[in-house]
Amino acid sequence: MIEKEHIFDILENYEKEKITIGTLGSHSALNIFKGAKEEGFRTVCICKKENEIIYRRFSLADEIVIVKDFESLLDANVQKRLRELNTILIPHGSFNAYLDMDDILNKLNVPMFGNRRLLRWEIDRELQKKWLQKAGLKIPKKFKDPNEIDGLAIAKFPGAKGGKGYFLVNSSDSFYEKAEDMIKRGHLTREELENTYLQEYVVGVNVYPQYFHSIFKNEIELLGMDKRYESTVDSIGRIPAREQLKIGIVPTYTIVGNIPITVRERLLKQLLEMGDNVVKVSKEIAPPGIIGPFCLETVITDNLEIFTFEISARIVAGSNVGIGTSPYAYLKYGEGMYMGRRIAREIKNGIGNDELDKIVL
Ligand SMILES: Nc1ncnc2c1ncn2[C@@H]1O[C@H](COP(=O)(O)OP(=O)(O)O)[C@@H](O)[C@H]1O
Ligand SMILES: [Mg+2]
Repeated sequence: MIEKEHIFDILENYEKEKITIGTLGSHSALNIFKGAKEEGFRTVCICKKENEIIYRRFSLADEIVIVKDFESLLDANVQKRLRELNTILIPHGSFNAYLDMDDILNKLNVPMFGNRRLLRWEIDRELQKKWLQKAGLKIPKKFKDPNEIDGLAIAKFPGAKGGKGYFLVNSSDSFYEKAEDMIKRGHLTREELENTYLQEYVVGVNVYPQYFHSIFKNEIELLGMDKRYESTVDSIGRIPAREQLKIGIVPTYTIVGNIPITVRERLLKQLLEMGDNVVKVSKEIAPPGIIGPFCLETVITDNLEIFTFEISARIVAGSNVGIGTSPYAYLKYGEGMYMGRRIAREIKNGIGNDELDKIVL
């Protein structure tokens, strides 16, 4: 693993008044770039040719580095260019989805905002579960084997691919039947099926609170909240039951976008405490713990019980609903605060206090 000291050496050689904020052109890049520009930074986008239009049209990337695929971020010449620009990378969901974790840990010699050492905990469902349990969060039950299914369950597969290929089952028979169907329809491969993660399906509504842990302020801020807009599951209510039965509709969870929400005020107590506890445990499992943004993926039942089924220890695409101003960020900061900008603000504070080495690991 790349030693912290090595990253600090690179940072030492950076021109602090010319720091560039960089990220892969995807996921929450526009959010990150806009925030960086509003805090006075230059920006660099590592971008695939076919997506260049997105970053040109919004005029938010001062420099665009075209790559064949996201893995090329690891190429020596790309890394060299990024260091020449004094780049601090902001990781987002596409880093986890398209780069190998060991490559990020061992081969990415560009300073990155946040704690790389939490990555291992984030991408492993079993480790995540330990983390969340230790923090005292309610989590859905896991079925070790399809034969254990005793109610509604959701079948999940490796890699954060935005819910693609997931399906619901209520018995081991329906599991095998649906798995074949998903393979036939090209949503799933046999290899992925081997690594099925079966989890109790919690009936309730999705709420995804977005937090920011500031090491400098020693505070955990709640900056936004969203829910997912998923195809086809969010469209099924528009089709009458009779037609659903006739065409044998299977809900799928492909993420298409996000919708902002605010919750009943009484729920904030628990959501705030959950965020605090998750950070507390993160300090124990991978010191100094979460640095910057993180998000809990929850389902809230009609008893107002909150179940957490996932954590992301980085900026989430759901925070894009707050670009400009998010309601909860407004409560704390007034206008013009959102996750991408909050990250840039923290980096700016780090430069100002000469404490960049506390937030870039
Ligand atoms: N235990 C659960 N109970 C109810 N819904 C769930 C549960 N787990 C996942 N979901 C639904 O499936 C979607 C994708 O699940 P998630 O585990 O977040 O996948 P990904 O790894 O793609 O992020 C969620 O957004 C949610 O709608
Ligand atoms: Mg998820």
